[in-house]
Amino acid sequence: MIPMNLLRGGNKADYILTGSWGKKAIKEASRYCEVNVAFDASAESGKFTMAPSQDQLNLSDDAAYVHYVPNETIEGVAFPYVPEVGDKPLVADFSSCILSSEIDVSKFGVIYAGAQKNVGPAGLTLVIVREDLIGETIDGTPTMFNYKTHADADSMYNTPPTYAWYLAGLVFAWLKELGGLAGMSEVNVRKAGKLYAAIDNSSFYANPVALDSRSLMNVPFTLADAELDATFLAGAKDAGLVTLKGHRSVGGMRASIYNAMPEEGVDALIAFMAEFEKKHG
Ligand SMILES: Cc1ncc(COP(=O)(O)O)c(C=O)c1O
Repeated sequence: MIPMNLLRGGNKADYILTGSWGKKAIKEASRYCEVNVAFDASAESGKFTMAPSQDQLNLSDDAAYVHYVPNETIEGVAFPYVPEVGDKPLVADFSSCILSSEIDVSKFGVIYAGAQKNVGPAGLTLVIVREDLIGETIDGTPTMFNYKTHADADSMYNTPPTYAWYLAGLVFAWLKELGGLAGMSEVNVRKAGKLYAAIDNSSFYANPVALDSRSLMNVPFTLADAELDATFLAGAKDAGLVTLKGHRSVGGMRASIYNAMPEEGVDALIAFMAEFEKKHG
């Protein structure tokens, strides 16, 4: 939908590539226009373990927009800043970090996010579009893929997933009680901080991501001996700690510590990791 709504007569878009979801976005956009990869974080090592700095971005003059993924879910790579892209609309896939901390919405042309991490149940997608970017689509765009259709109909052009909306509303109320996104962010910084500290202070566990690009939401880590992965996962499960297996493309473990994961959950993981290291390290 991004190229359909944002190309507006142009034939090129800039994509900053820092992980698996960016790669998929590039594949889709390539059906509609030329994609300039403004930075490929995997170019040297074949792996995604860092976000580029502003001066590493190779932005083109004639791009219709610039796309990036502020938090790459699978690799646990996050941008510590919002890229400056001049007068081009900045488009961001916030799926795995929306509502984890405050953002300055005015810096973005389009923000989009699946709801299933920090908003509510799967099946709901959140899109924030700058008003002047609504309504001009490429030929052949289906009605449902035109942002104007949804904007004009208050997101009720089709039958909306009402129960998912209702649950998202409850989540928003819960966030407000916690002190809004500023309050949530404090908790998230603390949760991730202690987990990364536990990993960094051990020679048994490792996280490959550059210090300034570490995700607050997704913390991948490996064991010194990958042969122990299955034992770790089984022991964790017995301790009530589940879905820690890393994505098959990365291996190892991944602790996804979204807003809904309480701090005690992170504490329990850290305690289990220390115990496991004592036994097997
Ligand atoms: C950053 C990011 N983008 C896109 C997606 C895809 O979301 P969906 O499965 O709802 O299409 C995900 C899902 O994990 C994601 O983390």
